Amino acid sequence: MRVGCPKEIKNHEYRVGLTPGSVREYVAHGHEVLVETGAGAGIGADDNAYRAAGAAIAKTAQEVFEKSDMIVKVKEPQPGEWAQLREGQILYTYLHLAPDPEQTRGLLASGVTAVAYETVTDDRGGLPLLAPMSEVAGRLSIQAGATALQKANGGRGVLLGGVPGVLPGKVTVLGGGVVGLHAAKMAVGLGADVTIIDRSIPRLRQLDDIFNGRVHTRYSTVEALEDECFSADIVVGAVLIPGAAAPKLVSREMLSGMKKGAVLVDVAIDQGGCFETSHATTHADPTYEVDGIIHYCVANMPGAVPVTSAHALNNATLHYGLQLADKGLKAIIDDHHLRNGLNVHKGRITNSAVAEALGYEMAEPKAVLAA
Ligand SMILES: NC(=O)c1ccc[n+]([C@@H]2O[C@H](COP(=O)([O-])OP(=O)(O)OC[C@H]3O[C@@H](n4cnc5c(N)ncnc54)[C@H](O)[C@@H]3O)[C@@H](O)[C@H]2O)c1
Repeated sequence: MRVGCPKEIKNHEYRVGLTPGSVREYVAHGHEVLVETGAGAGIGADDNAYRAAGAAIAKTAQEVFEKSDMIVKVKEPQPGEWAQLREGQILYTYLHLAPDPEQTRGLLASGVTAVAYETVTDDRGGLPLLAPMSEVAGRLSIQAGATALQKANGGRGVLLGGVPGVLPGKVTVLGGGVVGLHAAKMAVGLGADVTIIDRSIPRLRQLDDIFNGRVHTRYSTVEALEDECFSADIVVGAVLIPGAAAPKLVSREMLSGMKKGAVLVDVAIDQGGCFETSHATTHADPTYEVDGIIHYCVANMPGAVPVTSAHALNNATLHYGLQLADKGLKAIIDDHHLRNGLNVHKGRITNSAVAEALGYEMAEPKAVLAA
């Protein structure tokens, strides 16, 4: 199969669908790889690095779309891209179709077979192609919060680790899932006093074991939220109720109980945010202040560290990508985790959540693939 990787064209997207390391794996499996010139520039991989890995370099995105049997990307296709997709071609990328009727219409009209990273599942009931970006965002949340906490940036002026003779800063993490775990790891590493709040007791048990007593865990009640937010220097919002908008755990009223210059990092902003006063910001202007509390609410946090993010994403996508390249549609027919990833095939919606959100009739993946 010929596998194509165009340069990402979404605003401020520096990641790339295939790193040179991934290209080598596809080539070793007997596939041809066609990469658009400059596609890896954002992660410091030039055309020669791709040539050395065995790829051919295309001068234009158009050439990649025209000549490839499968397109591997990072972000959802933009209007100029979905117009170039066609029936018989596989698209493998993040799609996030439910809130995006225009893109959905574009993909349906193209006839393409689209596998969405965010709905591919694994045996443990997780979303393996989404998890690496939660790991990145969780770890980054503490860096971002610590920077915002500096006085010159509007924060309280507290050093998270303290120094001998002075207490460390206090970090409260709301939601101890993937983001919360990785935020807590970084905060502990910096020497902060860390508390994780979650509504799942089995998860709190797991976290207690992982950190061996180095973090405090609390069950999520209004009382616990008030105690831990009012005494915190940084609060990381990392809750998720799958498929639903994030619950607003911190109201505007609660801000008045917090320390002036404390920082809220709302990682859950992509699901609407878990602080009442959150609104999405960008890397160009990441923070704002409400009632003396600094808010950091960047919706695409991994975009700040494309080198790490692109490699973490490729580690996760490579396994299923190779299956798709090796076996084509049969890979989707054979593997129910890839079938869960199938969102669109030959003009039909094959994912129930997308169909329901956008008012389409859902087609059973097995049935449409067999047709
Ligand atoms: N901003 C970004 O760039 C970025 C990047 C990656 C992920 N995210 C977002 O971060 C959020 C968290 O993702 P994740 O992968 O860690 O999810 P996850 O499912 O692994 O963890 C969510 C946790 O929240 C807990 N929770 C749910 N309701 C709660 C409540 N009322 N009180 C306390 N805990 C509660 C759950 O028990 C679970 O442990 C998601 O919204 C995700 O989309 C944002």
